Amino acid sequence: MSQHLTTPATRRTFLKHLAMAAGGAVLVPLVTSCTTEPAKTKTAAKSGAGASADPMAVPQSKPEGWNAIEYNKVRGNAGKIPKTYHASINGPDGVKKHLGKHLPYVPAVDAKLVPAGYLAIMWGDPKLGYTKHPNAAKSDANKAGHWYNWIEVRKATDGEAIAQKSEYATWPATGDVKAAGYLVEGEGDMAAEKGTHTIYLAKLPSDVKKGDLVRLHAHCLTHGEYVDFLTV
Ligand SMILES: [Fe+2]
Repeated sequence: MSQHLTTPATRRTFLKHLAMAAGGAVLVPLVTSCTTEPAKTKTAAKSGAGASADPMAVPQSKPEGWNAIEYNKVRGNAGKIPKTYHASINGPDGVKKHLGKHLPYVPAVDAKLVPAGYLAIMWGDPKLGYTKHPNAAKSDANKAGHWYNWIEVRKATDGEAIAQKSEYATWPATGDVKAAGYLVEGEGDMAAEKGTHTIYLAKLPSDVKKGDLVRLHAHCLTHGEYVDFLTV
């Protein structure tokens, strides 16, 4: 299911439909896929952003001198960000309003609202001066819609680890927000203020525990793929 993992001979892929009691409600989050990714299936960047010979390569562990902005800019220009967005990411507001806007962060959220085994994620950390990522439904102006349709979480290690993918089929949620894989900052209307209060619930791999560093690899329907590392 994870198209970017490329060792079928050693890969085990299976789907899980998960149901979990959470705060009295039953959470049935998305279809997720787990992939055991063996060591050395990807070439990790040797040092800071853009230093890898292959700008498309996704590092398994956090490279020394990791610079998420620079890495994603290089990889985006190489093809993982749509050409129509290149002028924006390379422009004077590229870091704050475009690249930074697509980098994940863990928001301050009541832990009781986050189901066990999930990580709450938002994009564009205001504390770093980045613009918060908006979300928008499909429309005539944007037929694809504008939200993250998948997030993959993997323990940041060069050894074997499970890559856990969560998928988000639609935005905004119709009906139960949590069942669709979301929370809303402030528990209000998830479509208010251009959807900037949307929190994504990303399923954690079973081999990740609190305090671990993980790699987040995610896809915005309008603006392409982004990679970064976070501590759970
Ligand atoms: Fe976006």
